[in-house]
Amino acid sequence: MTTIFSDIEGNSSSAPAIDYTALGSDIMERVETLALHTEQTGIMTRTYLTAAHRGAASQIAVWMREAGMTVRCDASGNVIGRYEGTDPSSAILMTGSHFDTVRNGGKYDGPLGILLPIGCIAGWSRQGRRFPFPIEVVAFCEEEGVRFKAPLLGSRAIAGTFDNRVLDNVDEDGVTMREAMLAEGLDPAQLPCAAMSKGSIAAYLEVHIEQGPVLLEENRALGVVTAISGSSRFMLELKGVAGHAGTVPMTLRHDAAMACAEVALYIEQRCSASPGLVGTVGQFNVPDGAGNVIPGRAVMSIDIRAGADALRSDAVDDIQAKITHICTRRGIHANINKTYEAVSVSCADWLQQRLTDSMQRNGCTPRSLPSGAGHDGMIIATIAPIAMLFVRCGNGGISHNPGETMSAEDAALASRVFVDFVENFSVPTTQ
Ligand code: GLV
Ligand code: MN
Ligand code: MN
Repeated sequence: MTTIFSDIEGNSSSAPAIDYTALGSDIMERVETLALHTEQTGIMTRTYLTAAHRGAASQIAVWMREAGMTVRCDASGNVIGRYEGTDPSSAILMTGSHFDTVRNGGKYDGPLGILLPIGCIAGWSRQGRRFPFPIEVVAFCEEEGVRFKAPLLGSRAIAGTFDNRVLDNVDEDGVTMREAMLAEGLDPAQLPCAAMSKGSIAAYLEVHIEQGPVLLEENRALGVVTAISGSSRFMLELKGVAGHAGTVPMTLRHDAAMACAEVALYIEQRCSASPGLVGTVGQFNVPDGAGNVIPGRAVMSIDIRAGADALRSDAVDDIQAKITHICTRRGIHANINKTYEAVSVSCADWLQQRLTDSMQRNGCTPRSLPSGAGHDGMIIATIAPIAMLFVRCGNGGISHNPGETMSAEDAALASRVFVDFVENFSVPTTQ
């Protein structure tokens, strides 16, 4: 480990400048260290309330303390580091991202937005530098929704919109979220205490890898997010009639998997027809299926997203109508269960402008782009103005994939912009 994260005793007389090259490398090194907390060796899987998740939370708390922050955990499992301001009663500047991952995902999706601010704060801490406002770095416990099919749990806890019904959701082993929380020493009854009030957060800034190819294609390191796409997610369960693969003629089958396949192909076709609309079937299961049995039951996930809410809701209506049509024709019973819906969320204009100014002061040409991926910021937006800084992905822009990557140079530049943003931050009188 190089010098940036060590020796954080505040010493304003020497006021060492932040070495961004070292900081960029250290962020990359810490991403690797955090990735060791995984459910499967060599594969990045860290879902909510697992041993790997607990290990990552402890490691993040250690790094926060070393950087000069006080650390608290809330009832959802969020780890919150606070870098005190000269006026502790001032509204906070909040930053952060999530430390859970998808299964077999990447190492940077989430952790970058936690480790980068910790590194910058370590730099200010070494300088003995304080701001008029406190800074809180939130390591959100759960954003991806993998284990319990409910996303954005950490940010919902902070926004006061945690839906207690999800406590009864079960994981693949039949463990409820409530049981898993209690086993980790988290008390669901205390969740309301995690909520932060509207006026208490002056602004929220999340640094995140782009998770797409736009910046890479344009040879730009950074971009300012304009808005986060809305999203509708469903689990579709289709029930047909299981039968013998050798004896039932094709015309007499009620094959649940083939009905799912037809729905999936329609989703692809419908979403391909409208620019800005995307549709994904990421899970496709034939429970208890066998090679010589016509599937009697099939289950699939549906994820529809668009920057424009009307585009998304029109597509959802069409897909629902098509499911009815396909199932009627095939003699299949359909059960569609909405698991998640979020409207698109705009980033605050004044924060986008501040980020753009910070980019320009650091030699970056301004570039704004929407986010197709969901982020904790979309929930925090219900209680505070939000902004997001995107950092270029390497490797074709791939994400939610072990091939996800980015460079130390981009981490260094994003740190410069983050530092500039914070050092110039103040809440405008009119927003
Ligand atoms: C989170 O990564 C999402 O957009 O699904
Ligand atoms: Mn993410
Ligand atoms: Mn993700």
